[in-house]
Amino acid sequence: MQINISSEAKQAIKNFTIPEELGFGRVMAPVMLEANFENGKWSDMTIVPFGPISMLPTSKVLHYGQEIFEGLKSYRIKGNGPFLFRPDENAKRFNHSAKRMAMPEVPVENFVEAVKVFSKLCSEIIPRRSGESLYLRPFMFSTEEALGIKPSDTFKFMIVASPSGAYFSGGTISVLIERSAVRAAPGGTGNAKTGGNYAAALEAAIETKKLGHDQTLWLDAVTRKNVEEMSGMNFNCIIDGKLVTPALTDSILAGITRNSLLAIAPQLDIQVEEKKLSIDELIEAIKTGRCTEAFACGTAAIITPIHQIAEKDGTVYKLPSAPGPCSTSLRQALLDIQEGRREAPNKEWVLNLE
Ligand SMILES: Cc1ncc(COP(=O)(O)O)c(C=O)c1O
Repeated sequence: MQINISSEAKQAIKNFTIPEELGFGRVMAPVMLEANFENGKWSDMTIVPFGPISMLPTSKVLHYGQEIFEGLKSYRIKGNGPFLFRPDENAKRFNHSAKRMAMPEVPVENFVEAVKVFSKLCSEIIPRRSGESLYLRPFMFSTEEALGIKPSDTFKFMIVASPSGAYFSGGTISVLIERSAVRAAPGGTGNAKTGGNYAAALEAAIETKKLGHDQTLWLDAVTRKNVEEMSGMNFNCIIDGKLVTPALTDSILAGITRNSLLAIAPQLDIQVEEKKLSIDELIEAIKTGRCTEAFACGTAAIITPIHQIAEKDGTVYKLPSAPGPCSTSLRQALLDIQEGRREAPNKEWVLNLE
């Protein structure tokens, strides 16, 4: 597989100036990568200037949502890098999602190579202030033009990117327990990173915001008792000094940040427990003071402390400290690893593309 970079793409990078105000995912990098899947195989990849793509209104993705994506960051530290954090894990999860959504896999080495070449090309437009990065969004969608409900035979793989600031600039978040709607069900697509899961969470997101909170906390679809995750990040809490996070099921997205924290915590003498965590147990643990901290984790969120968990009737369970000592030291250790100040549990976690 070859990755071609057009001269227009190189020029577009040269002409680009990083705006002062970034936000998250709003400013787009001036280039994008494309490859097409036809006749059972992938074309070479091409990087061209960012711009509209043309498709007919009958493209299957617009009707049946056959679409998957990933999210990862390319970042620079003191002029060094760009760096990537565990991009092979994004590649593996992408292919897990592809399989679930009846889409072709992108070989892990091709996915990682694409992300590396893209990052290097964008090296000069990666913002460098603390918390900033180039957020990379690899994605794939069905392109066959027909209305029959059948898997598509043709697909497009793309990478777009956004020079971004921190996802949550406001520090701590308030989380609303969703007891009626469901994000994902057993046997469904919850552990695939596919657009439909996010669309299914949007109505609740509107209500969450309207009631004055920041994120929706989803419970399992069958018993409506067990904590699963939030709409775009995993849930963690500290109970009796231990890092507790819901054990993965097929309705929870296996976060790479979550997985990394489970490896980092023991190095900080924080024990970890992955278990079925019921909402009743969580509330009781907050009320009795056994649960001292809670936080969201994810590529975009890094570690974002939760200061309270709330019910729709206005009942609020306040966490005693946000950020608490464990979340603070986990966040620091994760950032230290990502930014090369601390050794990772596995040397291959941080790629320096310099
Ligand atoms: C539903 C959901 N859960 C969890 C996560 C956290 O995953 P990661 O740590 O790999 O970013 C994400 C973000 O990708 C997500 O969309």
